[in-house]
Amino acid sequence: MRRLRRTEALRSLVRETRLHPGALVYPLFLCPGEGIRKEIGSMPGVFNLSVDEAVKEAEECAALGLGGLLLFGLPAEKDVFATGAYAEQGIVQQGLRALKASRACDSLVTIADVCLCEYTSHGHCGIVVNDGARGPQDPDHYHIDNDATLPLLARTAVSLAQAGADIVAPSDMMDGRVEAIRAALDAAALADTPILSYASKFASAFYGPFREAADSAPQFGDRRSYQMDGANIREAMREIDLDLAEGADMVLMKPAMPYLDVIRAARERYDLPLGAYQVSGEYSMLHAAFARGWLEPERAMLESLVSIRRAGADFIVTYFAKDAARALG
Ligand code: PBG
Repeated sequence: MRRLRRTEALRSLVRETRLHPGALVYPLFLCPGEGIRKEIGSMPGVFNLSVDEAVKEAEECAALGLGGLLLFGLPAEKDVFATGAYAEQGIVQQGLRALKASRACDSLVTIADVCLCEYTSHGHCGIVVNDGARGPQDPDHYHIDNDATLPLLARTAVSLAQAGADIVAPSDMMDGRVEAIRAALDAAALADTPILSYASKFASAFYGPFREAADSAPQFGDRRSYQMDGANIREAMREIDLDLAEGADMVLMKPAMPYLDVIRAARERYDLPLGAYQVSGEYSMLHAAFARGWLEPERAMLESLVSIRRAGADFIVTYFAKDAARALG
C-alpha cells in the first residue's frame, strides 16, 4: 500500500476526495448600523457585521472563490410575531439588496436562512402558545404552535426571495414548512427560487456559540420539541423523505462532524444535492484547541472538512470557508 503514498504527487493522483472553495458556503451575521464589525467571543474571526461591512466581507469571499453565503440577521427589535423576519426593511432584506448591488458579489449564491428564532422576543423558532396558568412564559406549560408558524415562515421566505435571495433555507423544523414555503413562492411568481431544507437538523449542544452570534437563545425551555433527537437516524431519513415530497430542491444535514453517519446514510439513499453544516460549536471547539496549541490549525481544519465531504456532502456551510479557501490556494 505504501508505494502510492511515497510523494505528494502520488498521493494527489490517487486522492479520492477533494475540497474546493466553490463548494464552501460562508455564514454572515448582519446587524443594524454602519461600520460595525463586532467579533463573537466564542467564535474567533467571526463577526456581527453591518450591511456595509458585510458587502466588503462578501467581496472578499467572492475573490477567494467561495460558492456562496448563508445570511442570518440580528434585528433592531424583536417581538412575539417575529415581525423583523418578514419586514420589507428587515436586516437580511437590506443586506440582500446591498449584496445584489455589488457586481463583485455576482459569483456568490446568496442563501437566506428562514427561521423566526432571531426575531422572536422569546427566541423560539415558532409561535409560542401558553397552556398554563402562570403567565405567558411559564416554562413548564407552553408549546410551539406548528401550524400557526407556517404562514409566517412562508411570508419570510417570499420576502427574502423578493429582496434577492437566490435560495431560501428553512431551519425551523416545523412540519409542513417546505410545502407552505413552496406554495407561497409559486404564488408570488418566485417559482424559480429553490428551497434548501435543513431536513435533518438535530437538537444539538453544538449550536451554543451560534446563539451568541445570532442572539437567538431560547429565553425558556429548549428546542427539543421541534428539532430531532440526536439518537435517531431512521427519523432523519423520514424527515428527508417528507421534505422531498413537499418540494425541497436540496437538503442540509446539521450538525456535521458528530453526525457523519447520518450524512453517509442520506448520501446512499438520495440523489439530490446534499449540503452539510459544520456548525458553530464544531468551529469553536477546534479554535479552543488551536488557541492552546493542542492542534495544528490548518491541518485539523482541512481534515475536518474532508471528513464531511468523504461522508457524502456535496457542499459544506462552514465558518472556516475563507481560511480553507486560502489554505487550498
Ligand atoms: C436557526 C439556526 C440555528 C443554527 C442555524 N440556524 C440555531 C438553532 O437552531 O438553535 C445553528 C448554526 C450554528 O450553530 O452554526 N434556527
